[in-house]
Amino acid sequence: MTDPEAPISTSELVDWLGGRPTDRLAAIDIEDWDLASISRSAVDLLRGDDPVYVLAPMVRYSRLPFRELVREYGVHIAYTPMIISDAFAQSQVARDIQLSISKNDTPLVVQFAASNAADFANAVAHVAPYVAGVDLNCGCPQSWVMQCGYGARLLRTPELICDMVRAARALPGRASTVPVSVKIRIDEDLAQTVELARRAEAAGAAWIAVHGRLTPQRSSTPPNLDAIRLVKESVSIPVIANGDVDSLAAVDTIRQQTGVNAFMSARPLLTNPALFRGYDSTPVECVRRYLELAVAYGASFDTMQHHVSKMSEHLFSASERRYMHSLTTTAGVVDFFEDYVSNF
Ligand SMILES: Cc1cc2nc3c(=O)[nH]c(=O)nc-3n(C[C@H](O)[C@H](O)[C@H](O)COP(=O)(O)O)c2cc1C
Repeated sequence: MTDPEAPISTSELVDWLGGRPTDRLAAIDIEDWDLASISRSAVDLLRGDDPVYVLAPMVRYSRLPFRELVREYGVHIAYTPMIISDAFAQSQVARDIQLSISKNDTPLVVQFAASNAADFANAVAHVAPYVAGVDLNCGCPQSWVMQCGYGARLLRTPELICDMVRAARALPGRASTVPVSVKIRIDEDLAQTVELARRAEAAGAAWIAVHGRLTPQRSSTPPNLDAIRLVKESVSIPVIANGDVDSLAAVDTIRQQTGVNAFMSARPLLTNPALFRGYDSTPVECVRRYLELAVAYGASFDTMQHHVSKMSEHLFSASERRYMHSLTTTAGVVDFFEDYVSNF
């Protein structure tokens, strides 16, 4: 099975996705969408007092079927996987391949990797009419991403981040109204993190998502909630907390320790897409619903198998898991799961 942490280059990404035409759903019937309300809803939610649950951007996984699934289980705002802005802006094929949206998939935030203001703004201009927000990835630590000048590499150049936010905000027409956010990691020197957050706000960022780990830290390190609180106290725009949001109990703790009302989850939602509904582990119905969505939207086999494997870890024995991993077709996985459920 594909290693989810393995780096993907831009061309590989296009090849990888391009080889799976079933992921290439175009935007569906968007003419009658109330576009203004889509944008407003995300900002209004984040500015409110009620808890806001957010699906994190995840390369390969925060795709349309999974986004729809987690929305049915309490997620309010979903991010797309990181999309490389220059390829996206330049190529209709890349756009068709990399972004699929549906009416059930709002409010949606499209995340871009960019290394300069023109690429970011060009990419934003393509999606602005259809989304509730666009996000600049300033947190990805993978070496190929940093070498391209994307992701956490940007944390060293706050002025460039601000240029990109300003460039997107300066787009003409409706694009100028699309909220622009940034997703950052924290710095060892928290004064730098606070300074960056303040500058992003001054440049026009609508909200900030803070992954409470340093760039070199792995996910086994607990997030620094004090750092997230510091950012929250330093800006007036909403702050989304990210890192180990794995249960409603964790939401309570993070809320108390940081003062934020918005909670972004990545790996925990892969394991339990129903966590924001208070489930301790994925209910069988949720796995079945994912399979329905994956089949309906034609999710790629590798992605579908990975999702099913992650979300049903607690259901299957080691030998059942091995058997599931040996399957090579979507129909095989669906049949395996239905057989399993009928004997449940
Ligand atoms: C498989 C995978 C893919 C990811 N892809 C992205 C991405 O495209 N953009 C991004 O900003 N972060 C990405 N991340 C990081 C997550 O969004 C999140 O910041 C990180 O996993 C910490 O949250 P967690 O503790 O809930 O997992 C990814 C993480 C995982 C596990």
